[in-house]
Amino acid sequence: MFNQTIRPRRLRTSDNLRKLVRETRISPESLIWPIFVAEGENIYEEIPSLPGQYHYSPDHLYRMVERAHEHGVSRVILFGLPKDKDEIGSGAWAEDGIVQQGIRKIKELDPEMYVVTDVCMCEYTSHGHCGILCGHYVDNDQTIARLAQIAVSHAKAGADMVAPSDMMDGRVAAIRAALDENGFVNVPIMSYAAKYASYFYGPFRDAAGSAPSFGDRRSYQMDWHNGREAMRECALDVQEGADILMIKPAMSYLDLVYQCRQRFDLPVAAYAVSGEYAMIKAAAKAGLIDEYGIMCESAVSIYRAGADILITYYAPELADAIRKGDIG
Ligand code: PBG
Repeated sequence: MFNQTIRPRRLRTSDNLRKLVRETRISPESLIWPIFVAEGENIYEEIPSLPGQYHYSPDHLYRMVERAHEHGVSRVILFGLPKDKDEIGSGAWAEDGIVQQGIRKIKELDPEMYVVTDVCMCEYTSHGHCGILCGHYVDNDQTIARLAQIAVSHAKAGADMVAPSDMMDGRVAAIRAALDENGFVNVPIMSYAAKYASYFYGPFRDAAGSAPSFGDRRSYQMDWHNGREAMRECALDVQEGADILMIKPAMSYLDLVYQCRQRFDLPVAAYAVSGEYAMIKAAAKAGLIDEYGIMCESAVSIYRAGADILITYYAPELADAIRKGDIG
């Protein structure tokens, strides 16, 4: 009789053994939870396009902090919804801007909470583009000067890390120089190094009121036909002084998460964006999939591809899944 000596199934015979030989280990410490801070008072509203996520005015941020504590999440990335917008997005660097207020409030509620801020202008400009316009074109060099100003204002308000998401050329270098000049040499930059002009951001733009009023973002965010170009973007950000490289979106871009991990020595973050979350929520609501299972499997796939850090709206639920031992 044929004697089969090599049996991969041998290592799958019990839950205990399967957990012993897992190749991908995840910790709740590697999760970052995106949070939307809305200017005003008494706002605590579920976001229709992102079920389970909320708009919090600063006076309601304690709810977010409580939820984070319940699930053992201690890292957030903040997005702001200002009351007023203008042509140049001046609310983005205002000392009492909404993100600046949010940072101070969170630090007051929990000084241990690690606060990352999204550095961009699209939530603050009347036209919804991620920078200063020159006609219908986003002017690169005027924009990076403003982005540097925004990053410094976040750091002054107490941000622990800044994350530019605009995709202008040279913004990491400009932000690094400005932070250093202002004494924030130890505030790291997590650059959205390879950020694609993606349809997966749709629910976020509803949530943040940041859809462009004309045109699209293809003259600054990347074309999703391109992969080598993503590595070029990452290499530039490394040269410019980025501390962490981010690939965004995550699930349809695992090839780039993998390549980024292979090629660079910096920590790699992946952002499982609003569309990825909203699709799981919608399919689960329609009874088509097992939400918990899909959440776990998709998160693990991102880590397996090489991500060290995952930015996800499911951060609280994933932290629980990891602690329960269902994943990680
Ligand atoms: C701002 C920004 C966007 C996202 C993060 N920062 C939207 C965009 O580029 O239009 C998307 C996040 C998500 O979809 O969850 N530039």
